[in-house]
Amino acid sequence: MIDALVPAIPHIKALHVSMLSIWCAGLFALPLVLARHDPAIGQQDYAIIRRVGHYGYIFLVTPCALFAIGSGLLLLFLREAFEPWMFAKLVFVALLVALHAWVGRADMSVAEDARSEKPLSPRIPHVALTALIAAILTLVLAKPDLGAIPMPGWLTEPVGLHLPFDVPRR
Ligand code: HEM
Repeated sequence: MIDALVPAIPHIKALHVSMLSIWCAGLFALPLVLARHDPAIGQQDYAIIRRVGHYGYIFLVTPCALFAIGSGLLLLFLREAFEPWMFAKLVFVALLVALHAWVGRADMSVAEDARSEKPLSPRIPHVALTALIAAILTLVLAKPDLGAIPMPGWLTEPVGLHLPFDVPRR
């Protein structure tokens, strides 16, 4: 069934790049929105900023992240890109997901924690995001040969361990 999707690779890749562009743009924008969470700006503006940040995270940035990851996983199997550069890319994508979760947590905490009166600085998330995106783009566009990097045996071959409980047979 997956072979039937091979002609659609360019379209899936276009979806992947579009979704991850909105995802990453959102991860740049949301810390800026969070930085405006200053009670000094007045109740009405504060309510608008809260809504933009919260709904932007839930209804735009997170769905785009899911579509970017879903289409990426589909491409992974369609292109059979099981190469070391791809596994290195996935490590950085996991860090990007962690940053996404941190932004969501920061969004919740400004809403729920009355003590968080000091607006968050966007500098750290912006630096982390720039470094992660640069690393991911370098890996996916240059596709460096990382095969020469020595890896421990347990990462490169099956170690023959079994689950510590019985698995029902079909
Ligand atoms: C679970 C997450 C992801 C997976 C499994 C994944 C997988 C893939 C695969 C298999 C390709 C096709 C590579 C090729 O055709 O040579 C691809 C293309 C691409 N990915 Fe991802 N990706 C993921 C997330 C991301 C993220 C977060 C970014 C950037 C921030 C990104 C940037 C790109 C770009 C720019 C391309 C196009 C490269 C080209 O056509 O040469 N990907 N991705």
